[in-house]
Amino acid sequence: MTCDILLTGAEGQLGWEVARRVQAPLTVRATTRAQLDITNREQVLNVIADTMPKVIINAAAYTAVDKAEANSDIAFSVNRDGPAFLAEACSRSNLPLIHLSTDYVFDGTKTTPYAESDASAPLGVYGASKHAGEMAVREACIQHVILRTAWVYGVHGNNFVKTMLRLARERTELRVVDDQYGSPTFAGDLADAVLAVARRLIGGTCPPDGVGTFHCTGDGATTWCNFARKIFEIAEPRIQAIPDVQPITTADYPTPARRPANSALDCSKLERVYGIALRPWEEALTDMLDEVFEADVAAHTA
Ligand SMILES: NC(=O)c1ccc[n+]([C@@H]2O[C@H](COP(=O)([O-])OP(=O)(O)OC[C@H]3O[C@@H](n4cnc5c(N)ncnc54)[C@H](OP(=O)(O)O)[C@@H]3O)[C@@H](O)[C@H]2O)c1
Repeated sequence: MTCDILLTGAEGQLGWEVARRVQAPLTVRATTRAQLDITNREQVLNVIADTMPKVIINAAAYTAVDKAEANSDIAFSVNRDGPAFLAEACSRSNLPLIHLSTDYVFDGTKTTPYAESDASAPLGVYGASKHAGEMAVREACIQHVILRTAWVYGVHGNNFVKTMLRLARERTELRVVDDQYGSPTFAGDLADAVLAVARRLIGGTCPPDGVGTFHCTGDGATTWCNFARKIFEIAEPRIQAIPDVQPITTADYPTPARRPANSALDCSKLERVYGIALRPWEEALTDMLDEVFEADVAAHTA
């Protein structure tokens, strides 16, 4: 089965959006973990040889930030070795690879948004495994585009937005961390950006300086606490009760993995080189919530 795009992690938040946004004449082979386990080198080589794609998009990852602390073998296997196998296969077949990475490669001590040229210094196992994956991709595959993103939420899958909507049904008060800054990123907008890059690579119109590492998040930055407040502000007419959101500090909410205090990313390089910029995060959140509530209404009237 040949096609233009081979996509991994098609059941994830990003992969699901990429798969449903591919438009004719482009074709995609969207693979779930059961269909293509990126940690299986032989399977990676075989599927790529069988598919003969023009570009590979790696949306597969081990994203359980806290669980990664106790499961570092799995995290490194999926986030470092998997991308290394994909990069090796791409290099052998002279194919470009679009790979996703994370804001958690940074330690968060910078007080302004991080640029691609800033030094990585991950605080936890997840960030370290993704950093190792980036290095493996750079080393094995010249034609790579690494897109670092952050605070991803989508219609499909579990994420902060859906957790807040669930907690609104269960509690009257929520305590949410207010001293970590980052940029909420709608998986649908991220998928559009990934596909815009893919089209350039497939069409042989990769811009000068189009290979390398780029930051790609929703525009603007906020804290988890203000993100939660904005979710409830937008959702208010459609949910029964709005919980009282109380700000707390990271120290008040200990987690197995340490997280960067500031992980806002400067995305101007992607705009300069590819002409791609994501819209303000609040705007994207409004659209995502519309889709979630429409699906809810449809499910209850079906
Ligand atoms: N989520 C975030 O907030 C966030 C933030 C920054 C960066 N990112 C990066 O953005 C990318 C997309 O994230 P996402 O939120 O879409 O992740 P996600 O929803 O967790 O999806 C990841 C997908 O990868 C699959 N997968 C896991 N191990 C695999 C393997 N060995 N082979 C093939 N597939 C495998 C998972 O399948 P199973 O469910 O079956 O395990 C899942 O469907 C990732 O590179 C992630 O590191 C995400």
